[in-house]
Amino acid sequence: EKLGVDGLWLSPVYLSPQVDNGYDITDYRVIDTMFGSNEDMYRLIEAAHDKNIKIIMDFVANHTSDQCVWFQESRKGTDNFFSDFYIWQDAKPDGSEPNNWGSSFGGSAWTWDEKREQYYLHYYAAEQPDLNWENPQLRQKVYDMMNFWIDKGIGGFRMDVIDMIGKIPDQLIDTNGPKLHDYIKEMNKASFGKHDLLTVGETWGATPEIAKQYSNPDNQELSMVFQFEHIGLQHKPDSPKWEYEKELDVTALKAIFNKWQTELELGQGWNSLFWNNHDLPRIVSNWGNDGKYRLKSAKTFAILLHLMKGTPYIYQGEELGMTNYPFESIEEVNDIESRNMFAERLAAGHSENEIMDSIRRVGRDNARTPMQWTAGENAGFTDGKPWLAVNPNHEEINADQAMSDPDSVFYTYQKLIELRKQHDWVIYGDFKLIDSEDDVFAYLRTYQGKKYLVVANLSDEENQFKNRQ
Ligand code: GLC
Repeated sequence: EKLGVDGLWLSPVYLSPQVDNGYDITDYRVIDTMFGSNEDMYRLIEAAHDKNIKIIMDFVANHTSDQCVWFQESRKGTDNFFSDFYIWQDAKPDGSEPNNWGSSFGGSAWTWDEKREQYYLHYYAAEQPDLNWENPQLRQKVYDMMNFWIDKGIGGFRMDVIDMIGKIPDQLIDTNGPKLHDYIKEMNKASFGKHDLLTVGETWGATPEIAKQYSNPDNQELSMVFQFEHIGLQHKPDSPKWEYEKELDVTALKAIFNKWQTELELGQGWNSLFWNNHDLPRIVSNWGNDGKYRLKSAKTFAILLHLMKGTPYIYQGEELGMTNYPFESIEEVNDIESRNMFAERLAAGHSENEIMDSIRRVGRDNARTPMQWTAGENAGFTDGKPWLAVNPNHEEINADQAMSDPDSVFYTYQKLIELRKQHDWVIYGDFKLIDSEDDVFAYLRTYQGKKYLVVANLSDEENQFKNRQ
């Protein structure tokens, strides 16, 4: 409330065995007891609403947990109502998997099920079987669940890996399948389209053209999508994220933002703006300077992003300048992606040190350590035992400290949000990148005859700003 945000996106809080941090859902209508009860959730929705904050729920429509009753029924055979809710295929004549797809978390994307005597597809963990969107009954069940939460008064959905629901394994099409947009249009009509809600799709492979398809208001699909082209700069070209780039290529970053800012024109599409989420390392550690220049660096990234065109998303703790975590051993890591990668790369001959280095730099748990409220025990987050250790730097970096320090990162975020609410140029102004020094990211926003210049130095050296044009 004090920060000024108008929405709160919660990572999945549904009943889940937590194989993938809640992205493996057993029952979409039930809140996991680790977070509270359904009643608690309804109270949260209401209490937030009273403060003009809407709750955005994370909706995972690509897969469920293998504990979900649909999957349990589906496994039983080929002739029940749920049989085709998932993607089942026979083994090849030699007994091998139907195709060569690998799971995002390592190993094959197909697991043999003894009960049904077929393979099922799981693009993520084996405990996350992929749903079969070809099945109209499944689609209706998903829309019903969305309506269940809409009726409870939520403000919208963040849609997990939504670009994968149109996959066609037989044709080796995983993302952006031919029926994807038909499904989203149908979903829009059957659920959120009838209400004033925010919807944002997670689309790793989106180009501006694709983003327009989703977010052009005429198409009646989603409000916007998360595109990840800038995030791609964290690793070497065509390499897994573990092969990370030590330095940010600012020139490339400028080119990518320029493209998205100018191509997603008002009325034809809409950008989402973010540096961080639960899957990404902390911006101030990854591309900034989390030592000597932590405050300046965190503020620079905040300013750079918030004055662009689009809807900004702040990931918890980013507004305090929270940093990556100094993981020393794999025992301290919970994330399935990092743990599986550790085992795979160790077996492939990489040194433990090298692997831990990449986890410290780009591993997902960097973002998932508990929120730092106070300098006290467990950073004031819990009296119990948190699922990950609290960052030892909570003694200096915490919300209490930030509130009492007028120069804190928090107040920069607060000011930026205020600016966005007060000035239409931030929302509607044209964007023009300025050709300047390599490490200087400068742009001009123009609105109703007025010009606003934003200049950010992304190096830890003093810099000049000159317009080279
Ligand atoms: C998305 C989520 C990520 C999760 C994956 C599978 O990418 O953001 O956390 O592991 O989907 O659901």
